Amino acid sequence: MPSYVVVGASRGLGYTFLKVLATDPNNTVIGLVRDDVAVQKRLVEDGLTSVRVFKADVTNLEELKAARTNIEEVVGGIDYLICNAVYKTTATLLRNLAEYPDDLDYLETEISKSFKVNVVGLINTINVFMPLVQRSSIKKIIALTSGMGSCAFTNDSGIDGGIPYSVSKAAVNMLVAKYNVTYKSEGVLTMGICAGSVDTFEGERPSFSEKDTARFGEFGTKLQAYSARFAGPVPPEDGARQLLKVMHASSIEGGNGGTCVSYFGSTSQWL
Ligand SMILES: NC(=O)c1ccc[n+]([C@@H]2O[C@H](COP(=O)([O-])OP(=O)(O)OC[C@H]3O[C@@H](n4cnc5c(N)ncnc54)[C@H](OP(=O)(O)O)[C@@H]3O)[C@@H](O)[C@H]2O)c1
Repeated sequence: MPSYVVVGASRGLGYTFLKVLATDPNNTVIGLVRDDVAVQKRLVEDGLTSVRVFKADVTNLEELKAARTNIEEVVGGIDYLICNAVYKTTATLLRNLAEYPDDLDYLETEISKSFKVNVVGLINTINVFMPLVQRSSIKKIIALTSGMGSCAFTNDSGIDGGIPYSVSKAAVNMLVAKYNVTYKSEGVLTMGICAGSVDTFEGERPSFSEKDTARFGEFGTKLQAYSARFAGPVPPEDGARQLLKVMHASSIEGGNGGTCVSYFGSTSQWL
């Protein structure tokens, strides 16, 4: 019975991982979420009664440790730790560094929030759960990352927005290398996988100003120019299945430790 722990599993790709993994009755599937009551309700409505959820905000070490105790009671060790939690905003996605003329303090706040969840939250998560990963015979830790954190992707695509998200994902990419160097001798695979482009928006779509709608268009045009294969965002289930496929195929022996790869396994092409 392989055990999967998905961190940041309330919605989007995180919730979809729970759904997809639960289709195999051999899997033990656990989600960590900030609002466990709401997610428990959603799981029951979706008929996903085998999935366990525990409360944990990745910025809260006490909650993570309490979740570790709960997980330990369900499974001895964690085979697959999927670190999915993220802080991201559309407002900063559309602005480049020249577009903060009078509000650099806003940029600083957004960078701090992104680092707190995406970087420090990742360290908290991996450090707290490492003892359970070490007990597994599989020992795979996956950080969901993004080509937005790659210098080559930025220069090649010409995408200059998303400063807080991009710099935090660049830090995530460095962290997986650091964890790899520290733990690979114990057989722990730590790597990053970029989700590509997945439509994880839930609920009513916000309306954007004319300027922002144009910026979204420009963003899409740049992605298309970067990669002829890019055909727009894929549905969450397709995205989750593809990411799991890459995770299952990756190994220390295969040279994946400490690397960040795209949703099709490339270390240099992101879409
Ligand atoms: N979607 C894409 O196209 C895409 C592309 C490349 C990479 N990725 C990566 O894939 C991952 C999932 O993306 P997504 O689009 O599914 O994101 P999303 O829809 O924004 O969902 C983010 C998840 O993170 C959780 N979260 C936020 N702050 C948290 C915290 N402090 N502690 C614990 N959980 C927290 C959210 O829970 P709440 O409901 O409690 O806020 C939610 O479950 C991210 O790491 C993202 O960078 C996505």
